[in-house]
Amino acid sequence: MERGLLNENPLRAGLTARRTPPAAVMVIFGASGDLAQRKLLPSLYRLSREGALPGGFVVLGTGRRDWDDEAFREVVRRSFDEYLGEELTPQVWEDFSERLHFLSGSFKESAFYDEVQTRMGELDEEKVGTGNLLFYLAVPPTAFVPIIQGLGRAGLSGRRSRRGWVRIVVEKPFGRDLESARDLNEELSEWFREDQIYRMDHYLGKETVQNILVLRFANTIFEPVWNRQFVDNVQITVAEELGVEDRASYYEEAGALRDIIQNHAFQLLALVGMEPPVVFDADPVRDEKVQVLRALRHVTGTQVARNVVRGQYAGGYVRGHGVPGYREEPQVSPESMTETYVALRLYLDSWRWSGVPFYLRTGKRLPRRLTEIAVEFRQPPLALFGGNSAEGAEPNILVIQIQPEEGVTLRFASKAPGAAIRVHPVSMDFRYGTAFGARIADAYERLLLDALLGDSTLFTRGDAVEAAWSFVNPILEYWASEKAEPPFLYPAGSWGPRESEALLQRDGRSWRM
Ligand code: BG6
Repeated sequence: MERGLLNENPLRAGLTARRTPPAAVMVIFGASGDLAQRKLLPSLYRLSREGALPGGFVVLGTGRRDWDDEAFREVVRRSFDEYLGEELTPQVWEDFSERLHFLSGSFKESAFYDEVQTRMGELDEEKVGTGNLLFYLAVPPTAFVPIIQGLGRAGLSGRRSRRGWVRIVVEKPFGRDLESARDLNEELSEWFREDQIYRMDHYLGKETVQNILVLRFANTIFEPVWNRQFVDNVQITVAEELGVEDRASYYEEAGALRDIIQNHAFQLLALVGMEPPVVFDADPVRDEKVQVLRALRHVTGTQVARNVVRGQYAGGYVRGHGVPGYREEPQVSPESMTETYVALRLYLDSWRWSGVPFYLRTGKRLPRRLTEIAVEFRQPPLALFGGNSAEGAEPNILVIQIQPEEGVTLRFASKAPGAAIRVHPVSMDFRYGTAFGARIADAYERLLLDALLGDSTLFTRGDAVEAAWSFVNPILEYWASEKAEPPFLYPAGSWGPRESEALLQRDGRSWRM
């Protein structure tokens, strides 16, 4: 098991400082799709450029397109113009493109899995030689079960004795409610062992998300105040400027609660709320994270209306450009009740956090892209310098900025220069870019490498997925009931519906701006 995260020296350009994974065939289901073209293949290219992939690493893309290896390589090269985000280096591309192969066929046909097996065998013999297999499900969720079954029935899941390891990466969404997530977990465990299953939540691959653990557990100064005695509240924001884009067919069925809160935002919550693990290994870390999700106090029935606000963007302006409302977006129903915004107040019933509110919000078409965690501390017991300055009343806040600016900011009070004692809030800033000057790897680069190395620390375990859905389920049920109010509209380019502000005002607080 790789233990690198805490010991890694980021100054030595992070990813290349790790050991190189063993040779393997990576089979991508959905290789012609958006995710593969936008994220997976560019990430693999960059890993290849950094020398982080072993010589014997090949990709076998699959999909319905009638492509051969050459056609696939050409499509990938063209898509890199748009998605690579850097100039293609001819030599790197030459080497990388040799790694790319394609097998045309439908995941619905059982015979296709025999073809996959044959082609994988040939590639292994020609170029790899280890028998290691990484399956990647970059397909819509309706295809998950047929592919898992197809692989299992064809004997490709590695349960039976075979050379090398077999692993499977499952993309989100992992189910659409508790029941479907359980079914998917059951289906997976019918064919694969838990240690072969890598449930992807790309937020966990973000550098600053991993830094939450380092900040908390590689320093002594934060942990003693990281609890109900010192923390007044925690605010987690995942704001996006983008609208639904061309993903309406998925998003109409998902909505912001399923799309962001159940996975990405809850992963952030778990990292902020967890106890220190005894060792930094996949299971001890994930054991502690799941405890946080289990400690979530469930909100049910009419409590939902008091603790959860859902919104939907109406037409408005983002960065000065007029944009349509959600219901006017292509392929969105004009009566859609899908939420594009959620704000919630939640509590963790744990020794550390009892009584501390956690406020989470996410939305599309907000004024700017911003993901951050703000830990707001209690006021000092006496306002020694109070009375003459409202500014002095600002609490200490530790902000972990996840994107687009990666860093950490600590706000504290200082004496403003002058004869009188005037208290003024000031900040200490740490910026990843300036401090390390290194390129920050895309989350997918990190996670693909981890899957190849067999390190599942940054992947979600089945029990955590179910714990998260257990909290989300009653909210979905309430929203589907007749009692629920429809989503509150907010103008695109605003920070969400007014009701979201009211949620905090009732507690005498407000969202950080
Ligand atoms: C995805 C969601 O998981 O995360 C998208 O499906 C969202 O709706 C995206 O836009 C946000 O990811 P990031 O890395 O851009 O914050």
